[in-house]
Amino acid sequence: MDLELENFYSLYDRRKSIREFTSRPIERDVLGRLLRVLNRAQSAANRQPWHFIVIEREGRDEFNNLFYKEGFKDAPVAIAAFADPEAAWVRKNDGVNYAWVDVTIAVTEMIGAATAEGVGTCWIAAIDPVAVKLQLGVPERLELVGVIVLGYPESHLVHERKPRKPLEEIVRYGKW
Ligand SMILES: Cc1cc2nc3c(=O)[nH]c(=O)nc-3n(C[C@H](O)[C@H](O)[C@H](O)COP(=O)(O)O)c2cc1C
Repeated sequence: MDLELENFYSLYDRRKSIREFTSRPIERDVLGRLLRVLNRAQSAANRQPWHFIVIEREGRDEFNNLFYKEGFKDAPVAIAAFADPEAAWVRKNDGVNYAWVDVTIAVTEMIGAATAEGVGTCWIAAIDPVAVKLQLGVPERLELVGVIVLGYPESHLVHERKPRKPLEEIVRYGKW
């Protein structure tokens, strides 16, 4: 494998959820690149049924009360990701709405880019969606998929490396 390819795959190995951040802000150009990755993501029928709100640390005191882990409050940036089911593609066969899938793809792409930038992230699902929408003044029709906190990892801490199921347990070839 050449070095570029090796670096690419190591990205997926390096990524892990970060829950403690240093006070270093995320530079504007870095944040700009991450937001462009969100914007570039694929979506079913290219509907782009998503909205994102960037919440920087300054003026986030009230929002911070919604986090149940202290470490999240220090993150220089939090991004609330919303699905807009009315804008999304719907599979005719079974009526499945792809809004959450599309938002998840965009966020996952951004998390990959953040990892490449040395920025740590944690996806937070365990947060009160009603309170988040109320605080941010988000229209009723939007659904909170998650809040992603971003920042430079507190490096003196050993960020846990979570195990995975063996590949043979989750992948089958040809049929079940
Ligand atoms: C959809 C989703 C929701 C998550 N919600 C939370 C959360 O509410 N709080 C939290 O601390 N971590 C949350 N996580 C992080 C997971 O716990 C973490 O990804 C998993 O344990 C694997 O660890 P790793 O990300 O370090 O590889 C979430 C991750 C995903 C993908």
